[in-house]
Amino acid sequence: MSGQKVKNIALSPDGSAVRIVDQTRLPGELVYLDLWERDAMVEAIVSLRVRGAPAIGIFAAWCVYVLAKSYPAEDFFARLDADCDALSASRRTAVNLARQTERMRARAYGMRGAAAADIAAALGREAEAIHREDIAMCRAIAQAGLDLLHPGDTVLTHCNAGPLATSEYGTGLGPLLLAAERGIDIRAYVDETRPLLQGARLTAWELMNAGVGCTLICDNMAALAMKQGRIQAVLAGCDRMAANGDAANKIGTSGAAIIAKHYGVPVYILLPSSTIDLACPTGADIPIEERDGEEIRSMWYASPMAPAGVKCWDPAFDVTDHELITAVVTEKGVLYPPYDVNLKKMFGQ
Ligand code: MRU
Repeated sequence: MSGQKVKNIALSPDGSAVRIVDQTRLPGELVYLDLWERDAMVEAIVSLRVRGAPAIGIFAAWCVYVLAKSYPAEDFFARLDADCDALSASRRTAVNLARQTERMRARAYGMRGAAAADIAAALGREAEAIHREDIAMCRAIAQAGLDLLHPGDTVLTHCNAGPLATSEYGTGLGPLLLAAERGIDIRAYVDETRPLLQGARLTAWELMNAGVGCTLICDNMAALAMKQGRIQAVLAGCDRMAANGDAANKIGTSGAAIIAKHYGVPVYILLPSSTIDLACPTGADIPIEERDGEEIRSMWYASPMAPAGVKCWDPAFDVTDHELITAVVTEKGVLYPPYDVNLKKMFGQ
């Protein structure tokens, strides 16, 4: 498996569809899906076939391009609006999805009056730019994050913030992948990330693929690992960072950060600027997606392990309070508290 490189999102060779790796089939099978209809695209986002904050933004941008190519001139903008609205609303916590969809819509509206084919072509260039920008941002984040670590360190990862969740390198996993490329020994405890097991299924697969030494643990083992001094840093991605530095990420990130603070382990949140939402004052303003309780009740088990019909609450994200975050790693460099001041300084208009 070592060294296998996977392109998680691309145009199909004839340009008629967006091609994704179906992440729900990993690690057992590497299956590619070609999507050319809006409903199937929305389903892919909702079902987490394509997932991770930057990745769903990139995917939505390519979807808008593929869909726009077939709009008739007379109702180009009505079709564009309907498709952008549906894509944008398919998940609510990661700001990247709405942001990149709106960027595509604005690009088209900026060309109102031009031929439909010319607008569609411009949308193709815009999607490509969004994709390329993410690759560059992840590379810079990986380097900045690696600079915070030391050879011999072991980090805790949560959820999946690797190439599958972004473009290349990833955010939270970027420093580990870069270290492996350079022969620097940095290892990871990978927590499973209940209920959807993005850590066990995706992060462990990506790290093993890249030759990063990793050990899988259950989510509730992090405290013991930190107490025993096995972990030197927590690395996590982000789905939306509010103006005060509060960071929404996969459910369980906040718990890991609270434990880390107790044991004096630094918590680094790694994210591209496309994930920062300065219009959102604090974490309390970030919408939290809630998912089907079957993810907790019965998924992954040969037979359900909870009583049939038991009530479940399945929030997909939580918010790590800014006071728990040691540093925020972005493509423009590393930020320290006070985040309300420093985020505005670095990313405000
Ligand atoms: O529900 P998911 O799997 O899309 O959640 C993803 C995460 O929480 C990631 O950690 C986050 O998007 C950062 S990815 C670079």
